[in-house]
Amino acid sequence: MEDGRILVFTGAGISAESGLATFRETGGIWTQYNPDEVCNIRVLRQAKDDSAQRKHIFSFYNLLKKHVDEAQPNAAHFELARIQNKLGREKVIIYTANVDDLFEKAGAHVIHVHGDLKNMNCMACSNVWPIEQQFNHEDRCPKCNSRLTKPSVIFFGEQAPNYEYLLRDFHLKRRKKNDHIIVVGTSLSVVSSDMLNINKKIINSGTSILINKDETPDDYLFSHALQGKASIILPQLLMNI
Ligand code: OAD
Ligand code: ZN
Repeated sequence: MEDGRILVFTGAGISAESGLATFRETGGIWTQYNPDEVCNIRVLRQAKDDSAQRKHIFSFYNLLKKHVDEAQPNAAHFELARIQNKLGREKVIIYTANVDDLFEKAGAHVIHVHGDLKNMNCMACSNVWPIEQQFNHEDRCPKCNSRLTKPSVIFFGEQAPNYEYLLRDFHLKRRKKNDHIIVVGTSLSVVSSDMLNINKKIINSGTSILINKDETPDDYLFSHALQGKASIILPQLLMNI
């Protein structure tokens, strides 16, 4: 690869081989849980302090956190960490929609666009504070004492502040012909190829590579759409860096 930036965006599929479930595949998280019940900001805001609804939401994120805490990065996380540490953070910019910390465990710097499982947020004053082990539905905000607290995962219907950086870095005005885009393990149904400005008809845009286990309706927009496991394809793709 020539000397441009490598812009990476990853979804749940990159962590599948670490044993974490994806969302929309058979047996995926959204086939077992209704996102309107556990990931909808309006529902959480309306749930009373000690309601079954609020407890259900918190126990869902505690279960997710338990799986995440037990998981280890796979070869795909390690390979991206390796090239980032070799070329530098300005050259290899990694965004993820995943709330797991497998990139961090692999030694990479990553920007989470859908939040994480390490903190609590206050919806009243925007305060953020770290949790110890588990999310507690009774925790009040240590700053303003509000009961409107939530895990620091971005819910549907909520602003995702880090989209701003994602949109900026993937913006055509900032992209050069020798920039390369690698998109891994996502159905592109939330962060879309439109948001990432992927379209091989765009003049002056560099290579765009999609790596997924399955085909997506947007495969044709990328200059290369590769089907297979991220942990096998990424090390092969990047081995000469
Ligand atoms: P999806 O479950 O929608 O898509 C997972 C993708 O990973 C599919 O395209 C699979 O083909 C691919 N995949 C599975 N195993 C793989 C492997 N071993 N190697 C490579 N690819 C593999 O998950 P996302 O696109 O990440 O948002 O979902 C996007 C968002 O939907 C999530 O961030 C989450 C969810 O609602 C929020 O919670 C706000
Ligand atoms: Zn507060």
